[in-house]
Amino acid sequence: MLIVSSEFLVSNQDIKKCPSDNLPEYAFIGRSNVGKSSLINMLCKHNIAKVSGTPGKTQLINHFIINKQWYLVDLPGYGYARVSKSTKEKFQSIVTDYVLKRQQLTCLFVLVDIRHEPQKIDLEFMRMLGEEGVPFAIVFTKADKLKPSEIEQNTKQYKNIMLQEWHEMPMSFITSSAKEMGKNELLDYIDSINAQLASYTTKK
Ligand code: GTP
Ligand code: MG
Repeated sequence: MLIVSSEFLVSNQDIKKCPSDNLPEYAFIGRSNVGKSSLINMLCKHNIAKVSGTPGKTQLINHFIINKQWYLVDLPGYGYARVSKSTKEKFQSIVTDYVLKRQQLTCLFVLVDIRHEPQKIDLEFMRMLGEEGVPFAIVFTKADKLKPSEIEQNTKQYKNIMLQEWHEMPMSFITSSAKEMGKNELLDYIDSINAQLASYTTKK
């Protein structure tokens, strides 16, 4: 799929104020600093999402309208220890509200840094998604930081850990925003879901 237009639409912290046009939404979630905003910029080919080396940069629900047909949604990160407890709770409630209540959420991309061992916070978050029936896929980020053999080893280890509690490994992607890796795969995946939704709507 080709992105011909991408535009920042709105930021807010209340899902009731999110766009009400019922277009499908693809959101990015994961630990602070994992590369959510960078990935959105990579997919859109220009810097529409705010990126920073300091964790906690994205603090609101940000909607970007793509090809005037669907949304990419940038969310605050979870698990950042150095913000105050009240800020952390506020982020958590924004994220939880969006993830569990937003009907337009079509697929949630859970980002994990490919360099690290599977983290408890991510595994627990995905378990919650499974229990709540939220459709999601895993996106490994920062693959430019590893050699191909290390990428293979780490993704294999991730899969083994996931399979201890999942029947099958969720859909996963290996990406690098720095090297534009995984871009076509992610966009094609979104495209295929949009096509399915469109055929379902026309059949009804
Ligand atoms: P919060 O909004 O704070 O939760 O962070 P985020 O998940 O949106 O991360 P962001 O995109 O702001 O990136 C955090 C840092 O990681 C920045 O310094 C980015 O330049 C860097 N980064 C993101 N993606 C990549 C990547 O693919 N490769 C490398 N080498 N660095 C990356
Ligand atoms: Mg961000």
